[in-house]
Amino acid sequence: MKKITNICCIGAGYVGGPTMAVIAQKCPEIKVTVVDINSQRIADWNSTDFNKLPIYEPGLKEVVAEARGRNLFFSTEIEKAIEEAEMIFISVNTPTKTYGKGKGMAADLKYIELCARQIAKVAKTDKIVVEKSTLPVRTAETLRSILDNTGNGVKFQILSNPEFLAEGTAIDDLHNADRVLIGGEQSADGQNAMEALTEIYAHWLPKERILQTNVWSSELSKLTANAFLAQRVSSINSLSALCEKTEANIEELSKAIGADSRIGPKFLKASVGFGGSCFQKDILNLVYICQSLGLQEVADYWEQVIIMNDYQKRRFADNIINSLFNTVSGKKIAFLGWAFKKDTNDTRETAAMYVADILMSDMAQIAVYDPKVRPEKMFADVEYLNSRSIDENKKLLFPKNDPYVACKDAHAIAILTEWDEFKTYDWKRIYDNMMKPAFIFDGRNILDHKKLIEIGFNLKAIGK
Ligand code: NAD
Ligand code: UGA
Repeated sequence: MKKITNICCIGAGYVGGPTMAVIAQKCPEIKVTVVDINSQRIADWNSTDFNKLPIYEPGLKEVVAEARGRNLFFSTEIEKAIEEAEMIFISVNTPTKTYGKGKGMAADLKYIELCARQIAKVAKTDKIVVEKSTLPVRTAETLRSILDNTGNGVKFQILSNPEFLAEGTAIDDLHNADRVLIGGEQSADGQNAMEALTEIYAHWLPKERILQTNVWSSELSKLTANAFLAQRVSSINSLSALCEKTEANIEELSKAIGADSRIGPKFLKASVGFGGSCFQKDILNLVYICQSLGLQEVADYWEQVIIMNDYQKRRFADNIINSLFNTVSGKKIAFLGWAFKKDTNDTRETAAMYVADILMSDMAQIAVYDPKVRPEKMFADVEYLNSRSIDENKKLLFPKNDPYVACKDAHAIAILTEWDEFKTYDWKRIYDNMMKPAFIFDGRNILDHKKLIEIGFNLKAIGK
């Protein structure tokens, strides 16, 4: 088996950046070049100020500082990097299609296809092409037909190597992955390619955590692993609604259910709804695949996970409106948190934007504080969801860089993200400066509820 010395990764996003930074850190003898069409993103990755990296992840800047310039490079010279590499990771975005056949459901594979065509055009030597992006099962077949029809005699091996990192814990997840999945062709060349990639991960992970499968199992495992995780969140969120009607307590319920070792305690935290770039997109894609294959009952089963998540976000917003005497018009409501989870600046599909949009439609004034999300991003998020003009949104949404200012004179506070710093605030001071009665809606169950009630807050928490 040939040892890999030169890797290229197409796509310098939330996955490509951290994943390649860790490979470069752990494999100093391999040159790793991450390329992207977005020149601003590449410039940010090359920034001398490590606080300006395009992605915020705990521990990321230390890894980049160690490897960048040694064997880790960020570049816009895509063709050069492809030509030089022996192994090419494709880590571009695969969003839900917004047009044509499969609109709103299927994964949009146009960026993947463009990468394959570019590799086919540029490659002068044999390459291992690795699917890092999350893809519908059997995408490798599409890649193969594009790559094999170039006529320049180059041989390609296609591997599926989906990424399981979660944002906010990406570096730890990469350093201590539960498993790495490598799917390859069932042939001698396929086996060699799988071994070459296994060798890279074996620099820091025990071999028994590196699983080799056929390509289709690997592609499908990624989609379904996300579906299982999201299903747990929707399951516990569905029960939070039942708890609110019965005086059962969702946290006690989660603990009791999760104590069964067959179920386990993780991913049973009730919330205002899951967000993030992948759960919804991947389940919609799974539903679409099942429908396309005539498996309507299977499709309906998984679609319910999304339906429940939409219900949870709407229920949270409705609860605010109902509690504030059925009108929020002209009332200031403070949002603490906008990111889809703590320790990230990512806001894709964040529950916060859906809740904000519902309240803004009722003419509430939303003041938002998030420690990592920039105001432009918040405006872009609500603009993406609604048909209000930018000027109209600016009359209803007010990003603030101080939580005490955001909460001042508010009728209610809604906790949308579980940032740790919220627990350390002077809640008495916040209460004193609010309109009365002062409401707080804890969409993450992170605050000390007993203490808040003692202070005088009217408290509503998910599942309580
Ligand atoms: P992202 O949008 O952050 O990054 C994708 C990058 O690819 C962008 O910078 C874009 O400019 C670049 N790109 C697109 N087409 C290109 C082309 N033809 N040439 C060069 N660059 C190109 O996306 P992401 O969050 O990193 O996700 C990438 C894939 O990984 C998706 O399939 C996603 O489902 C999957 N995934 C994401 C996560 C996550 O936590 N975000 C985790 C696991 C898997
Ligand atoms: C998720 C998966 O956890 C990763 O394994 C996967 O690689 C990734 O999707 C992907 O394919 O993109 P991520 O979306 O970054 O990672 O973050 P999660 O920790 O899974 O959280 C997703 C959402 O679920 C967040 O909004 C979070 O707040 C919510 N959540 C999570 C809950 O509401 N309750 C929980 O118990 C857990």
